[in-house]
Amino acid sequence: MRKLTVILTIVAVFAAFQSSALSQNKYVGKKACVMCHSTEKSGKQAEIWAKSKHSQAYTTLTTDKAIEIAKSKGIANPAEAPECLECHTLGKTVDPALFDTKFDIKDGVQCETCHGPGSGYKSMPVMKDKAKAIAAGLTEYKDEAAIEAWCKTCHNEKSPSFKDFVFKERWELIKHPKPKSE
Ligand code: HEC
Ligand code: HEC
Ligand code: HEC
Ligand code: HEC
Repeated sequence: MRKLTVILTIVAVFAAFQSSALSQNKYVGKKACVMCHSTEKSGKQAEIWAKSKHSQAYTTLTTDKAIEIAKSKGIANPAEAPECLECHTLGKTVDPALFDTKFDIKDGVQCETCHGPGSGYKSMPVMKDKAKAIAAGLTEYKDEAAIEAWCKTCHNEKSPSFKDFVFKERWELIKHPKPKSE
């Protein structure tokens, strides 16, 4: 009897561990977003982002300029250094176990950098319901101040090439709203 209790406890603990591991949202990569966010009707978020410098943020780390900046900090390869990748991809260091096979770090500052890991919210029924999407991992920005604060987690003095950051001007360059339907 005792033995059975022990076994059941082990099974229960394992099941709880597994479900918590499964409920961790994963980064699915930009392809999973652009399939629905490319059309005129949606607001062509994919195209606006692709034309922005954010889509090139990883590639920038492979340039001579980046290598020069890195060298002055004693870093050999910026494209592999967490100190640089941090802001040129996700804005934080993430356990690579949370990257789905299709997630590509080379896509730089990408959809899920700002909107959160998409495995839980990317399905149509969830996406159509904002509250559900937020519950499933979509990042919620309460107001403009919250958006600005998020931008400044990367656009700040820790950036070796930082100059200044005027939110309204920069937001104009990257915003990607859904067209208003009359
Ligand atoms: C199956 C299609 C589909 C996929 C895949 C998809 N979306 Fe969406 N998304 C939608 C639809 C539909 C809406 C609702 C648009 C509306 O308000 O009419 C939406 C809304 C959104 C919104 C706005 C939420 C709000 O109401 O403020 C964001 C942000 C978003 N999606 C980001 C993403 C990201 C990031 C990904 C990839 C991880 C993604 N979507 C993948 C269809 C999709
Ligand atoms: C705190 C976030 C942050 C960190 C850390 C960071 N960067 Fe950047 N980097 C940025 C931002 C934001 C920009 C865009 C320029 C701007 O507005 O500051 C940028 C731009 C650049 C550019 C383009 C500059 C230009 O003038 O064209 C290079 C090159 C670069 N970073 C290299 C690096 C290297 C190498 C590292 C690691 C040693 C690094 N960055 C670490 C945020 C960061
Ligand atoms: C994860 C870090 C990160 C976050 C968060 C972030 N950025 Fe950036 N941003 C960068 C990096 C890195 C670059 C430089 C890319 C390059 O030149 O390769 C950049 C470049 C830009 C540029 C192009 C440079 C210029 O001034 O012309 C604009 C505009 C910009 N960001 C606006 C924003 C805005 C607005 C927000 C908030 C909604 C934001 N960014 C959030 C990292 C970030
Ligand atoms: C630098 C950060 C950043 C990146 C990168 C980014 N977004 Fe956004 N996006 C935002 C912010 C901030 C908003 C406005 C607040 C909100 O609606 O959550 C927004 C709004 C949206 C909306 C809602 C538009 C509306 O008017 O309802 C959609 C849809 C969306 N983004 C999809 C995407 C997709 C798809 C990608 C990648 C191709 C992407 N975003 C990349 C920051 C970003």
